[in-house]
Amino acid sequence: SSRAPPRLSGRSPNSNMMQPMRRQGRASPLLCLSAAILAAALLPGAAVADGVTPSEARLLRDEVKDMFYHAFDGYMQHAFPLDELRPLSCQGEDSLGGYALTLIDSLDTLALLGDKERFAAGVEWVGKNVRFDINKTVSVFETNIRILGGLLSAHLIASDYATGMKIESYDDQLLHLSVDLAQRLLPAFDTPTGIPFGSVNLLYGVDDDESKITSTAGGGTLTLEFGVLSRLTNNTVFEQVAKNSVRGIWARRSKLNLVGAHINVFTGEWTQKDAGIGTSIDSFYEYVLKAYLLFGDEEYLYVFQEAYKAAMHYLHHDPWYIEVNMNSGATVWPLFNSLQAFWPGLQVWVLHISEHIPALQHIF
Ligand SMILES: *[C@@H]1O[C@H](CO)[C@@H](O)[C@H](O)[C@H]1NC(C)=O
Ligand SMILES: *[C@@H]1O[C@H](CO)[C@@H](O)[C@H](O)[C@H]1NC(C)=O
Repeated sequence: SSRAPPRLSGRSPNSNMMQPMRRQGRASPLLCLSAAILAAALLPGAAVADGVTPSEARLLRDEVKDMFYHAFDGYMQHAFPLDELRPLSCQGEDSLGGYALTLIDSLDTLALLGDKERFAAGVEWVGKNVRFDINKTVSVFETNIRILGGLLSAHLIASDYATGMKIESYDDQLLHLSVDLAQRLLPAFDTPTGIPFGSVNLLYGVDDDESKITSTAGGGTLTLEFGVLSRLTNNTVFEQVAKNSVRGIWARRSKLNLVGAHINVFTGEWTQKDAGIGTSIDSFYEYVLKAYLLFGDEEYLYVFQEAYKAAMHYLHHDPWYIEVNMNSGATVWPLFNSLQAFWPGLQVWVLHISEHIPALQHIF
């Protein structure tokens, strides 16, 4: 099978459906949010939390920069142009599509750190060398958050004087790549529920033996990138398929307003009914809120309000979050998993907007 290695299909079901899946680490789709936090930390005069002096904040900032360059330089030296660095053997490997994944994924961070030279060099290299007409079966989720998201954010940054990172010679190469890539992902959405297959071949569409089971996050983590692409190209199809996918998931929520972990994209049946805020579901919550914040589309706000209220009611056991059966609310896994760690960041946004949105007040 040309399937991506299991650790990359963390969002899609593994072969043993009886075991809850525990992903072993992947890039966070929280780029925008972490970027915002990092930007706040890097801004001179930005508000500093109680107990951290401005000089301590500068030290922390420099530590973050050092950590980034340790990872980025290590990748460029030992693995580029392969997708990822294997940290123990110091070898590169093509783990997603073989298109310099880590470089594309890092472009916006380079810009955020003010590294115009490496940002411009990276954008130029990607524009000249990356192609998607390749016989590779890739995860729709990972390709969207890392590659499409990386290309689109770098495109926006490189096109705009206001970012201080505008590249004079840049001529929409990354936008053209984004359109090409997104069109190659579209065949995955051709399902009765509108929820996409977990993987798609970039040259031939969905493989004949592709699994019809996908994760909730797999269907709910597309709206930002696909929506931005539609706005940039005036082609509504991308935004529409991403929205249909969210609708496909939300229409199948339980009476408790909870969603499960895995769903059959043909029948709409939940094959894994554990509801939680971590593994397999996490960024479903993140993206419905951020889709509202980015596009102002109140349908997403409505979904978020209902989903968030149910999560706080059934999953939150202060100070922890557990997994419960989506239909009965009965505890299934009283365990913390690392992928829940994004939630407090999401709650900062909830707090921020709840001033204007009565339904979000009194939830904490
Ligand atoms: C596409 O890739 C698969 C898996 O590597 C391989 O089996 C197949 O022969 C390739 N198809 C073509 C037309 O090259
Ligand atoms: C999209 O439409 C707007 C408004 O009609 C226009 O200004 C813009 O150039 C169009 N963009 C593209 C990529 O066609």
